[in-house]
Amino acid sequence: MRILFTASECFPLIKTGGLADVVGSLPPVLLGQGCDVRILIPGYRDVMAKVANPRAVATIADLFGGEATIRRADVGSLSLLLLDAPHLFDRPGGPYTDDDKKDWPDNHRRFAALSMAAATIARDGVDDWRPDIVHAHDWQAGLVPLYVKRLGETRPKTVFTIHNIAYQGNLPPSVLSELALEPTEFTSDRLEYWGNISLLKAGILDADKVTTVSPTYAREIRTPQFGFGMEGVLNARSADLAGILNGIDETVWDPQADGQIAATYKRTQLKRRVENRQAVQDALILERDPDAMLVAVISRLVHQKGLDILLEAVPQIVARGGQLALLGSGDPGLEAGYRDAARQYPGRVGVRIGYDEELSHLIYAGADVMAIPSRFEPCGLTQLYALRYGAVPLVARTGGLEDTVIDANPAAMSARTATGFVFSPITAGELGFALERAFELFADKPSWHMVQRRGMAQEVGWSLSAKSYMALYKGLLDTAS
Ligand code: ADP
Ligand code: GLC
Repeated sequence: MRILFTASECFPLIKTGGLADVVGSLPPVLLGQGCDVRILIPGYRDVMAKVANPRAVATIADLFGGEATIRRADVGSLSLLLLDAPHLFDRPGGPYTDDDKKDWPDNHRRFAALSMAAATIARDGVDDWRPDIVHAHDWQAGLVPLYVKRLGETRPKTVFTIHNIAYQGNLPPSVLSELALEPTEFTSDRLEYWGNISLLKAGILDADKVTTVSPTYAREIRTPQFGFGMEGVLNARSADLAGILNGIDETVWDPQADGQIAATYKRTQLKRRVENRQAVQDALILERDPDAMLVAVISRLVHQKGLDILLEAVPQIVARGGQLALLGSGDPGLEAGYRDAARQYPGRVGVRIGYDEELSHLIYAGADVMAIPSRFEPCGLTQLYALRYGAVPLVARTGGLEDTVIDANPAAMSARTATGFVFSPITAGELGFALERAFELFADKPSWHMVQRRGMAQEVGWSLSAKSYMALYKGLLDTAS
């Protein structure tokens, strides 16, 4: 079975969030289950600089205003197809924004081009390889199912995965023809969404199957509270909608072999985490307090993640003798809020504004608690890394957080199944109660270690979910024949 992934990010080449981790870690596991996956991503300047001499395998004479070359590169166990289109992707800045964090004005063309390139590969094949299924991820690849549908009867099947329904790729109707779309597409039962064109809606409507990244989120997005206006479309497609839980790359994220942490360890060597915790304290200019419960956050600083709620809990964490370490960037108001907290509580609150993959590994390995108070969370990977590294997750009861963390309530403690703390409703008050429960359990070291070890034993890899994707792909091909 040949699958073409199409996405705007892929670890280790380009990453702004969990999408990259998923796109970079699922294909090798699918390969192990007999699936040949190639991953089409934009040839951003940073990406092209990281890949030595990628081989040209196809050209597209005019792709949205310029010539494009599709290049083949193998990076580790990933087979990549890079869309080398200098007029769209050879520029400084991030994948979606310029150096001042402003969206590129031609993002609609850039990602329509990515989708069109996927459809071209679906039609003609590339390098003697034609996909049976094109699997598109998020709004940036939202036009893939529509463009592929135009290929007619012999077209490959399509899967569209929603990683976050809050990001919809909404565009003014004036760009319709630029995206090679007919005016007839701009109706409420097609791509029109509150007066705009929505690329996410296009993906949902035209894919043969739609998935999202946890079972709970698959239910949530069918409701007005979580659907961001897409609940109607999703309910109409409910027979073709599935929630498949994300997994993590267990080789990149392995506390027994991680070269980016101060001391490696296994479940039976929890004492060795102390060295990592000290290294975190040093890195974030926190006191080397051996008794403090170290609460950590690694996150994009956006409304979704609920970190304004956590900010309210800072005085409580400090008063209870705890410490807070935060690594993140995003919303200027939140950045300023956490910087202020660090100034107010020197040695007890440490803040690193920025993006630092290496430091993130160290924090997972050294923190006692990872706080994830998200208002909504399609899956969330940080709680999975935390579990694997023995940092106890303290999470809001929503989406994938709810599907992956078992609250340390009395029943789960006596059944020895607890792996963290889960709170709802998602308010500062409830977060405060959960933190209080964490402080109490932290004081009872045998129980605390039991929860850590239980979490470290949890299955967080891809093996189960990759089987679900395989079944989904096979089902599509069976209906085709
Ligand atoms: P989202 O995709 O919504 O940001 P996820 O939990 O799925 O949330 O994935 C976030 C990923 O980004 C994780 O791999 C996390 O470790 C990483 N990450 C987030 N912020 C930072 C940061 N400031 N530095 C390093 N890694 C980060
Ligand atoms: C999105 C979601 C996150 C999910 C990630 C990977 O960025 O916000 O919850 O884990 O995609 O699927």
